[in-house]
Amino acid sequence: MARITAGVASSHVPLLGVAVDQGKTNDDYFGPIFKGYEWTKEWEKQEKPDVVILVYNDHASAFDMKIVPTFAIGCGEHYKSADEGWGPRPVPDVVGDPDLAWHIAQSLILEEFDMTIINEMDVDHGLTVPLSMMFGQPDEWPVKVVPLAVNVVTYPVPSGNRCWALGEAIKRAVESYPEDLNVQIWGTGGMSHQLQGPRAGLLNREWDNKFLDMLEQPNDDARWIPHIEYLRETGSEGIEMVMWLIMRGALGQKVKSLHRHYHIPCSNTAIGHLVLEPDESETQEKEAA
Ligand code: DHB
Ligand code: FE
Repeated sequence: MARITAGVASSHVPLLGVAVDQGKTNDDYFGPIFKGYEWTKEWEKQEKPDVVILVYNDHASAFDMKIVPTFAIGCGEHYKSADEGWGPRPVPDVVGDPDLAWHIAQSLILEEFDMTIINEMDVDHGLTVPLSMMFGQPDEWPVKVVPLAVNVVTYPVPSGNRCWALGEAIKRAVESYPEDLNVQIWGTGGMSHQLQGPRAGLLNREWDNKFLDMLEQPNDDARWIPHIEYLRETGSEGIEMVMWLIMRGALGQKVKSLHRHYHIPCSNTAIGHLVLEPDESETQEKEAA
């Protein structure tokens, strides 16, 4: 059976992709940011996941105001790096896992999550920057990827509770897949940032760290944070953090926190990164009961 072995959260700031592509990850500005990902890069080499369910948001690359899916799942064979206005990032194509993706789509839709199915699209910094942060610059990405796109760009975005519940349903979907796969789920985007308007540049170290604390706890309190709190405390783009709740919901009640990193600022954004593992003791207790 396939299982979700870990959850990873990471910011997706496009400037981080530029730093990787231009070899600047060790300079004074980027060094402290990338240092916080070194632990994870080494850990990923040992973990060797087969597939990552990569919860991310598109930024008007695959979708625009013509089509705005709330939740969409990539069932394609592969995805190219999108041209976001200055040419596609020089990164390998992303290889999908259509069999697993269709299985997850079926399971979610029959559980009444009305997923949009995508067979062809390009993927932008929302998806490729987290891959670069975790895997560096390989000739090929070492994992297959099931992209799971969430609308966090246009009002109304899905509630935290709905995102958490989707994560719970993804866990059930993965665990009902017969192939023995090591699956990770990543929640990306965030943390506090606002890119436009009078509050552009807003960052909130205290709130961001409270959110990181919450995700490490053996409860689901974070699913009830209302949209208005993300907007007020973390800026308009801070709402990207609801994507982390899909990841957290897919890990079960109890988690072990393996690694945590926070840095201010990167471009206009607070960088947050968390590595969580489902707590084995919870599964054992359930099996014994
Ligand atoms: C920035 C952050 C984002 O999340 C994004 O999608 C684009 C730009 C930034 O801080 O520059
Ligand atoms: Fe973004």
